[in-house]
Amino acid sequence: MLAASRLRQAAEYREDGLRFGIDLGTATIVLTAVDDLGTPVYWNFIRASVVRDGVVVDFQGAVRAVAQLKRTAESALRHTIGEAATAHPPAVPLSDCRACAHVLQQAGIDCRKLVDEVSAANALLAVRDGAVIDVGGGSTGVGVFTNGELRSLSDRAGGGHHLDLILAGALRIPVEEAEVRKREQGAELLSVLRPGIERVAASIGLQCANVCPGMVHLAGGALQIPGADAVIERYLGWQVKSYLHADLITPFGIAVS
Ligand SMILES: Nc1ncnc2c1ncn2[C@@H]1O[C@H](COP(=O)(O)OP(=O)(O)OP(=O)(O)O)[C@@H](O)[C@H]1O
Ligand SMILES: [Mg+2]
Repeated sequence: MLAASRLRQAAEYREDGLRFGIDLGTATIVLTAVDDLGTPVYWNFIRASVVRDGVVVDFQGAVRAVAQLKRTAESALRHTIGEAATAHPPAVPLSDCRACAHVLQQAGIDCRKLVDEVSAANALLAVRDGAVIDVGGGSTGVGVFTNGELRSLSDRAGGGHHLDLILAGALRIPVEEAEVRKREQGAELLSVLRPGIERVAASIGLQCANVCPGMVHLAGGALQIPGADAVIERYLGWQVKSYLHADLITPFGIAVS
């Protein structure tokens, strides 16, 4: 809740120890800032289709988006952003991960750390036993933790964009309009979206080798549809925990990583 209230509104912060994160997502590019205690200070985002499942498909577009977020953040914070951490989906090859770091560099930011987005999410959630799921626009990442150790990490295509396609097909509307309707009227559209949400649940099950990992923690924007958590829980028969502002978990997790 505190993090959400810092959208384009910088909080008071102590001069040293500001840490930044940049999430180059399929649906959104997000810049986050936390103080030395990990308290959210500021965040901003741009919706852009410059990265697809961790692969930078429009390099100059990605650089422009990050540079714009950097400029806006610097004037809100009155602080230069010299370095930041960034993240990639778990299954992305190293060469594509490096491209993410190059985007930051071209935008004038040193990449201080490159983490996978599931570990980034867990830097905030601190799950010791259970599964951490990041369902973004393009893919579903799954990390299974036992005794605080990452036991398995994987990623499969399928996320919010696929729900947009289902809705666009069912309502015979453009995909862009479907994306907005999904975010604004998700509860009313749950019955149409259910098969797509169950597909995400099946993907989670498969990535957990169909063995209950303990509590399933849902991060990422795509399952913020009211009732989606219950659909996942019923489909898997496993306990599921959802979070308010789940789309902010990974971006702020990157900053604290
Ligand atoms: N309130 C909401 N209800 C339903 N869906 C939402 C809501 N808010 C965001 N989304 C969806 O979440 C997705 C974006 O989530 P997120 O920002 O976690 O993805 P990303 O990091 O850009 O993508 P990826 O991690 O797959 O590269 C989009 O599909 C968007 O439509
Ligand atoms: Mg993401």
